[in-house]
Amino acid sequence: MTTPAKIEFHPADPAALAAVRGKIAILVAPDGRMDKLARKVNSLCRGAVARLAESRVFADLKPAEGHALWFPAGLAAEAVLVVKLARNCDALTARKAGAAMAGFAAGSALTVLAPTHPRAADISLGVALRGYDFNSCKSDAGKGPGKVAFMVNNPEKVAAEAAPLAALAEGVFFTRDLVNEPSNILTTTDFAARLAAMQELGVDVTILEEDQLDKLGMRALLAVGQGSESPSKVVVMRWNRGRPGEAPLALVGKGVVFDSGGISLKPGAGMEDMTMDMGGAAVVSGVLRTLALRNARANVVGVVGLVENMPDGRAQRPGDVVKSMKGDMIEVINTDAEGRLVLADILWYAQQEFKPAGVIDLATLTGAIIIGLGHENAGVFSNDDAFCNAFLRAARSEGEGAWHMPLGDAYDKLIKSRIADIKNTGGRPAGSITAAQFLKRFIKDEMPWIHLDIAGVALRKEATDLAPKGATGWGVLALDRLIRDRFEG
Ligand code: BES
Ligand code: MN
Ligand code: ZN
Repeated sequence: MTTPAKIEFHPADPAALAAVRGKIAILVAPDGRMDKLARKVNSLCRGAVARLAESRVFADLKPAEGHALWFPAGLAAEAVLVVKLARNCDALTARKAGAAMAGFAAGSALTVLAPTHPRAADISLGVALRGYDFNSCKSDAGKGPGKVAFMVNNPEKVAAEAAPLAALAEGVFFTRDLVNEPSNILTTTDFAARLAAMQELGVDVTILEEDQLDKLGMRALLAVGQGSESPSKVVVMRWNRGRPGEAPLALVGKGVVFDSGGISLKPGAGMEDMTMDMGGAAVVSGVLRTLALRNARANVVGVVGLVENMPDGRAQRPGDVVKSMKGDMIEVINTDAEGRLVLADILWYAQQEFKPAGVIDLATLTGAIIIGLGHENAGVFSNDDAFCNAFLRAARSEGEGAWHMPLGDAYDKLIKSRIADIKNTGGRPAGSITAAQFLKRFIKDEMPWIHLDIAGVALRKEATDLAPKGATGWGVLALDRLIRDRFEG
C-alpha cells in the first residue's frame, strides 16, 4: 500500500536554516513580501531571493507556482523553491502550492518554511497528495516519499488542523492504489480482502459470496461475472459513528476489476485501461477509509459490486434476458454495458437493506461521458435538486470537476425492450443519459439519488494539479466534504 509522506510540524527556528539539508520551500507574496524565515534564507544566500522576487521570472509566475534556486551559496540545502503565494489565498491555491513543492522535492527530504501562513495545513495536504507514487509493480520499489518537515509558529495548532487532512490523503491514496493496480493482482478476491482489512480501523465489513448473491436474486450482477474465473462478490462497509438509528448515506460503487467487454469484446487498442473499471468501488472504499481514520460522526454504508467481465463458454451472451433483484427483466443487448447490470442489483440491495437517507452511486459507466465532458468533469445525474446542488457545491469547493447532466422520461423509449422490461443499451445518442435512466429504474420513488459517471476523471494520461499521471482519486475529497457538511452532526 502506498502511504502518504509523514509530515512533521516543528517550531520556526531561523538559526537552524543554514544547516538544513535536502530541499527547502519558502513562500513569497506576489508583492515580494517575505516572512521571517524567508528573510533569513534570503540573507544567508546574500539576497538571491529578493533579486528573484524583483525579476520578470517571479512576476510571470502564477499564484502557487515556484521557481527553484539551485545550490545556493550560504546554505547546505541543494535547492530553494521560491513559491509565489499570498497570505489570503484560498484552500485550493494553498494545496496547489504544496503540490508544486512535492513535485520539486521529487522524493528527497523537504523542509517547508511557512511560519505565519494561515493555510499551512492545506499546503501540507497538497504536498501529500502530489507526492503519490505508485511503484508496487516495479522491481526497484523506489525509496518512498522523502521526509517532510514544516517550520511554523504554532506547530501544535497546525498539526491539529492537518490531522483530518492526512486522513483524507490516506483515503485518496487507497483509492488511487486500487485503480492503478493491474487486474491479475487486484482480482475480486484480492479487492475484497483489502476491504476486509479495514475492520482494523473499526469499519464493519461483510462480504457476500456468489451463493448468497444468488439467494438474494442478484442475477443481473452474477451474469456479468459468470465468464470469469474470479468469483463475483458484493462487499458492504458500514461506518456508524453518527446519531444512533439515523438513516445512513449509502455510497454504491461499480467494481468491475477488468472489463474486456465480454462476448461483445472491446477492441484491443486501449483495452489495458479497463483495469480501472472498478474506479467507483475504489472511491467508495477510499471515502470509508477516510471516515474511519478521522473518526467521522456520521452513518455511512458503502456497497460495492466486484465482478470481472470476461468472454468464455459460460459468459452471458448478447440477447440473454436476466432477472434483476428488483424483479425487472433485462435484455442484454451488449455485454459491454455491464456496469449498469451490476449497479441495478446493488442499488436495489442498498435501498432494501439499509433504508438510506440518500444514495450516491459512482461508476466508470460510459465512454460517452468522455465524449461529452472530457477528463475535466464527472457527469452528475440526480432526481433531487437540493441533494444534487449540495454535492456540486462540495465538489467545487474541493476543486473536483463535476457537471450537472439531465435526466428525463423521454429518454426511456431508447431503452425499451421488445421482449423484456428494459434493455441494457440505448444506442449512440445520449449514451450517458440512457445509462443513468436505466439506473433510475432501480431507485425507489422519493429516494434522493445522485449518479456520478466518473469514466473520464478516474484515470488521467497526464498529471493534474494534485496527482501524477494515472489514478486521480477523484471524488474522495468532494464526498468527504459533503458528508462533513450534510451528514455529520
Ligand atoms: N467501462 C466502460 C466505460 C468506460 C469507457 C470507462 C472508457 C472508462 C473509459 C463501460 O462498461 C462500457 O463499456 N460502456 C459502453 C456502453 C455501451 C456498450 C452502451 C461504452 O461506453 O461504450
Ligand atoms: Mn463495458
Ligand atoms: Zn465497464
